[in-house]
Amino acid sequence: MAFDQPLDRTVPSVADAIDRERDRQESTLGMIASENHVSAAVLEAQGSTLTNKYAEGYPGGRYYGGCEHVDTVEAEAIERARDLFGADHANVQPHSGTQANMSVYFAVLEPGDRILSLDLDHGGHLSHGHSVNFSGQLYDVEQYGVDPDTGYIDYDELERQARETEPAMIVSGSSAYPREFDYERIGAIADAVDAFHLADIAHVTGLVAAGVHASPVEHAEFVTGSTHKTIRAGRGGIVVCDAEYADDIDSAVFPGAQGGPLMHNVAGKAVGFAEAQTDAFERYAEQVVANAQRLADVFRERGLSLVSGGTDKHLLLVDLRDSHPELTGTEAESLLSDVGVVVNKNSVPGETRSPMVTSGIRVGTPALTTRGFDEAEMETVADCIVDVLDAPEDEAVADRVASRVDDLCETHPIYD
Ligand SMILES: Cc1ncc(COP(=O)(O)O)c(C=O)c1O
Repeated sequence: MAFDQPLDRTVPSVADAIDRERDRQESTLGMIASENHVSAAVLEAQGSTLTNKYAEGYPGGRYYGGCEHVDTVEAEAIERARDLFGADHANVQPHSGTQANMSVYFAVLEPGDRILSLDLDHGGHLSHGHSVNFSGQLYDVEQYGVDPDTGYIDYDELERQARETEPAMIVSGSSAYPREFDYERIGAIADAVDAFHLADIAHVTGLVAAGVHASPVEHAEFVTGSTHKTIRAGRGGIVVCDAEYADDIDSAVFPGAQGGPLMHNVAGKAVGFAEAQTDAFERYAEQVVANAQRLADVFRERGLSLVSGGTDKHLLLVDLRDSHPELTGTEAESLLSDVGVVVNKNSVPGETRSPMVTSGIRVGTPALTTRGFDEAEMETVADCIVDVLDAPEDEAVADRVASRVDDLCETHPIYD
């Protein structure tokens, strides 16, 4: 194979799959709460020759020669991250949010130490101590949850559990909890029991950076995040922390948890963070939340049950058990996918079905907001979703909704 040929001549099957994935993204409504569309500039940085460079170590102190240009890129990503989050120190090398969490655990915990984190069925994440993840296998995990009546975290109960179980670390943050965390309260509880507080803001990294969601930085020793969700900086993770933990975190990321950093992804972060420092990004983040709240209004008016009754951020968790007891999360996901609305099935508090089936769907607004959707268009999207859930067997409804989805996609191109 010639080295300098374009992809479509070198491996046409991969070129074709990439083209089709791009078409899929353009022609469907992406409402998976953890997904987004990065800018052309972030794509360019991530697809650059920086993928060729080994750069173990940190700017100014590498184990390889030839790092002068990647040093510039990483130093810029670090500086922008510190500015966005108002943090003493940032490490931009974690390959993902999970590696970011791993690095924090490695920095200050010993195997067998106790972690107190949010239950997966209540919105938590695998890397917060689930038994199928390294975090559940290495550490002793206790879980807190939401009040079954309100769907909000029961902070009194969390405090009681913390006092009783004396964890070494309390983890806040979630994949599917639609409300802001009370970081100040969790920080105070952690202080009272002499535990570290890790705030995992994976989903809301962009909302926190833009100042439209509470920041945990003052109330947690460690803040971790994903860089490809609301912040649109390409796939990866980040840790920010107080100065006193900077060296511990840096050695926990490399050489503790990872080898060479993915410098093309670090470049994507530098570019995405620069975009996140603009006023336009702040308006984007505000619109993400406004869109989710309008979606919630219409869902409620049309009889859907939402965990906690609504949302403070970019996602809603629909509990189908009241309104559509005949539908599982999997079935709802598939019905919506058939008309071009892409969401994911999700467990709900008090879940009785398996994680592969579930009784809920999680619906998010970051990607549609990137495409320029506003509240009026979210009303249309909400009606499309409920129309399909209300009439799962009705082909005329499905055809009408699919055609509406086509119109919305055509009038909101992503990269054209
Ligand atoms: C709360 C939380 N933490 C961590 C992660 C892991 O991120 P990644 O997929 O980048 O490892 C996620 C992913 O959705 C998440 O929701």
